[in-house]
Amino acid sequence: MSEINVFDEWDELAGDYKDLETTNKVYQEKLLELDEYQKKCQKFITHQRYRMGIISKNLEKLKNQDSDDTSKIEELENSLLKRTAQLFEIEQTLPKKNGIYLKIILGNVNVSILNKEEKFKYKDEYEKFKLILSIIGFVLAVLNLLTRFRPLELSYIFLLVWYYCTLTIRESILKVNGSRIKGWWRAHHFISTVAAAILLIWPDTETWAAFRNQFMWFNGYISVVQYLQFRYQRGQLYRLKALGERHNMDITIEGFHSWMWRGLSFLLPFLFIGYVFQLYNAYALYELSFLPSATWHVPVLSLMFLILFAGNLTTTIMVIPNKLREKVKLRYRFMSQRISFAKNLNLQDHGEKVDTTKLD
Ligand code: COA
Repeated sequence: MSEINVFDEWDELAGDYKDLETTNKVYQEKLLELDEYQKKCQKFITHQRYRMGIISKNLEKLKNQDSDDTSKIEELENSLLKRTAQLFEIEQTLPKKNGIYLKIILGNVNVSILNKEEKFKYKDEYEKFKLILSIIGFVLAVLNLLTRFRPLELSYIFLLVWYYCTLTIRESILKVNGSRIKGWWRAHHFISTVAAAILLIWPDTETWAAFRNQFMWFNGYISVVQYLQFRYQRGQLYRLKALGERHNMDITIEGFHSWMWRGLSFLLPFLFIGYVFQLYNAYALYELSFLPSATWHVPVLSLMFLILFAGNLTTTIMVIPNKLREKVKLRYRFMSQRISFAKNLNLQDHGEKVDTTKLD
């Protein structure tokens, strides 16, 4: 290549660089603008919530005064519920601050996912992660039942510590991104991390030898339950996604709910058996704690299994009445956007008409 050509090429590239600089400047300006808009939206949301709080209080007072305007009061209550769902949806498009746990672990890095599709992918990946780890867990539990090899036992328990610890981080990120995961399930994974850590340092005594097989059976069973949970959660995730899609008219809130109840009634007996197993673990450990070889690990683990049993049982039982109330919220969350889409379709006259009254 001649010397002249190299210099010409460099000059040409310098021209392209100018374009890059101009585009980057516009990009940075847009970023600043974006930041301003995000702050403005957050301010508006706070304002809406503040005034809605006052309106709700006054509405309660009006209700207590036996007002004649019952239909108007009901209408306003519905509008408040609808606005709450709308504000939640808007909030999902804005960045959120990390909770204290994420701040400690990750520092002040932004973990908000603003794109709906990316949010969905992250949740889907979380479910897959749990599935893969429960398959590995199942295999290791069975291997531990077939053999008595201390390094294998310890590797399995170490994997449990890592797994539960990772779950707590992933769930905190999901929470920042609008997941409605209940506090107890997150607490459950924190307690499980601590319980697994105690199991890891439990010395290889006669007491451990007496409990280990029961523990491996328990974990094998939990892995199977986790597989069933995976199928239920993934089904929910995909159906909720379909409900939120404006172009998807195949699924209705009624259809979603009947699928969900079927899924729940299949899953619940397996969950309750798991809880009875947890209670049995607590009892067995309590009995073992009287053995001369029992160390402090035994009563502490017994208490932890009891706490897990009580927390899991009450939270799962409470899910059922919550689900009945949730229907109204879901309707507001998805229907306004889908009805407007259906109306558009009808206006454009795409042949067969969409019956918007059937959407809920
Ligand atoms: N772990 C993690 N996330 C959970 C969860 C759990 N155990 N239970 C519910 N969630 C999530 C849901 O995926 C949903 O997330 P999203 O807001 O991002 O969509 C959110 O929490 C709200 O879920 P909710 O509507 O309250 O319940 P659900 O219908 O999704 O699930 C159960 C209800 C009872 C099936 C579910 O909570 C469950 O499987 N619980 C049992 C867990 C357990 O006991 N494990 C130990 C076995 S011994």
